[in-house]
Amino acid sequence: MLRVTDLSKSYPTPHGPLTILSDITQTFQRGDAVAIMGPSGSGKSTLLYILGALEPPTSGTVLLDDCNPYQLSEDELAAFRNQKVGFVFQDHYLLPQCTVLENVLAPSLVAKSDENYLERAKTLIAQVGLSERLDHRPSELSGGEKQRVAIARAMICRPELMLCDEPTGNLDHVSAENIAGLLLDLHRQQQTILIVVTHSAELASKFPIRFEMRGGKLVE
Ligand SMILES: Nc1ncnc2c1ncn2[C@@H]1O[C@H](COP(=O)(O)OP(=O)(O)OP(=O)(O)O)[C@@H](O)[C@H]1O
Ligand SMILES: [Mg+2]
Repeated sequence: MLRVTDLSKSYPTPHGPLTILSDITQTFQRGDAVAIMGPSGSGKSTLLYILGALEPPTSGTVLLDDCNPYQLSEDELAAFRNQKVGFVFQDHYLLPQCTVLENVLAPSLVAKSDENYLERAKTLIAQVGLSERLDHRPSELSGGEKQRVAIARAMICRPELMLCDEPTGNLDHVSAENIAGLLLDLHRQQQTILIVVTHSAELASKFPIRFEMRGGKLVE
């Protein structure tokens, strides 16, 4: 379970603090598939970063299965991000010098589990339809293919929380549909908490739980 309590985020400016998120309280259960929409600058990415243990809130708490990542030591926090959270960024951030297979495997290199990650990586790559691209580097992939690699990579360690920031932002209509379907399929199989930020009403409509970010709050 992901529990967010009284979460606020503000940035200091010369004219005083600029409030982006304001007292958000919300609980997400395992198996939830959530879409968040809202205008540019409303704080959607900021919220994902805070949920993904990448950016501390100004106040309030984030608990993933009763663990507050912002109370962990630096090493524990790195392990938490690696093991518990899968993040798909808009700009995918693949390692340019590594192949598809190596990119998907990367987060598992420091995982402390006896899972056969090579097998899992190949299975995930097959699920995202890229078995014939195992040895391609990101520069040899299309935008949609890169996004699919990023999704496989985010799933490799079986995260409890999967966060996607505009995963179909750069894609044509058909590719966007495919990515959305893929995310929801993988989500059904893995029973993560899936939270997707999107500007596409069509993508959002595929998600059973929908919020809009408005005035620093999540409105259902
Ligand atoms: N480090 C920072 N310092 C000051 N302000 C910031 C900082 N980072 C983000 N902001 C502000 O926070 C607001 C929310 O940004 P955020 O990236 O969360 O928006 P968003 O909803 O994801 O928008 P978009 O749809 O354009 O991606 C923006 O107005 C931005 O200017
Ligand atoms: Mg954003």
